[in-house]
Amino acid sequence: MINTMSNSLKIDDSWLFDPQRLVEPSSWAGHTPFAAWLIANIQPRRLVELGTHTGFSYGSFCQTVQSRGLATECYAVDTWQGDEHAGLYSDAIFEEVRAWHDAHYAGFSRLLRMTFDEALGYFSDGSVDLLHIDGLHTYDAVKHDFDTWLPKLSSRGVVLLHDTNVRERGFGVWQLWETLSARYPHIGFDHSSGLGVLLVGDDVAPELVNLTRSYAQHPALIRGIFAQLGGRIENFCDLRHERSQNQARGQALEEREAMLQLRDAAIAEKDTALREQQEVQRQLHEQIERLMASRSWRLTTPLRALMGLLRR
Ligand SMILES: C[S@@+](CC[C@H](N)C(=O)[O-])C[C@H]1O[C@@H](n2cnc3c(N)ncnc32)[C@H](O)[C@@H]1O
Repeated sequence: MINTMSNSLKIDDSWLFDPQRLVEPSSWAGHTPFAAWLIANIQPRRLVELGTHTGFSYGSFCQTVQSRGLATECYAVDTWQGDEHAGLYSDAIFEEVRAWHDAHYAGFSRLLRMTFDEALGYFSDGSVDLLHIDGLHTYDAVKHDFDTWLPKLSSRGVVLLHDTNVRERGFGVWQLWETLSARYPHIGFDHSSGLGVLLVGDDVAPELVNLTRSYAQHPALIRGIFAQLGGRIENFCDLRHERSQNQARGQALEEREAMLQLRDAAIAEKDTALREQQEVQRQLHEQIERLMASRSWRLTTPLRALMGLLRR
């Protein structure tokens, strides 16, 4: 137990959360222990994710809901087509996500393949307890997603914004975060591209309110604890990624080696054919020399000369 002046942060087994859905991209990996802690503590009745892609973050949400036996309804919204930051991708991504999802979480979760704006029509105002915004990361896009979905949040409402700590490639979540973190009680993590946690409702679970107060007093300590917990998962994902890259490199090397062996065999075959041809030529040459050195050839030399003259 970490005692602070006004409240406390209880050690929880969600701190040792091991995500089962380990996929690329894994830029969310370091937030999975916090996500597990959050869901276990706020027990959302309804959770919506805007931007799921291969499902790293959504996998950690669903895993926690299932392992805790919570009654949370989960929704993942995505066109599963990609965007200018995630890159455009093929239907194979959605097919894989759907197969994984349906096998494990179809009982309490739905995949909504549509735009965030289209999905708005399927949720009543005040009906979402936890919203994770992780779509296109330009300032305009993330502001639009926040503004249009805010009315959907309940009095227990919490909003997560991923990539608050990325300042490149036109990402602008950091800029929106500056405004929103001045307006709402919040926690801001810097690791794993940054995650902003906003308490937008006025009746948020006391455990999160306490953690937010601890953060206000000791931001570096709270950030440090979850960065350390998340670092274990990040390292694991990095190693896994490196291993699969090495395997791919090894396979490419094996394929190249096999190609080189085929090329060597073709060269050896050509060498043999060339040597056989040279041997045939050598034998022909010998026969010609033997013939020219023979007595009959020498005796018929004048006759061949005469024939030559006659032909002219
Ligand atoms: C950064 S990725 C999501 C990453 C995911 N949360 C994870 O843990 O890996 C962003 C996703 O948002 C989707 N997206 C972006 N803008 C969208 C929009 N307006 N409507 C629906 N999907 C959108 C893209 O298709 C992409 O798959």
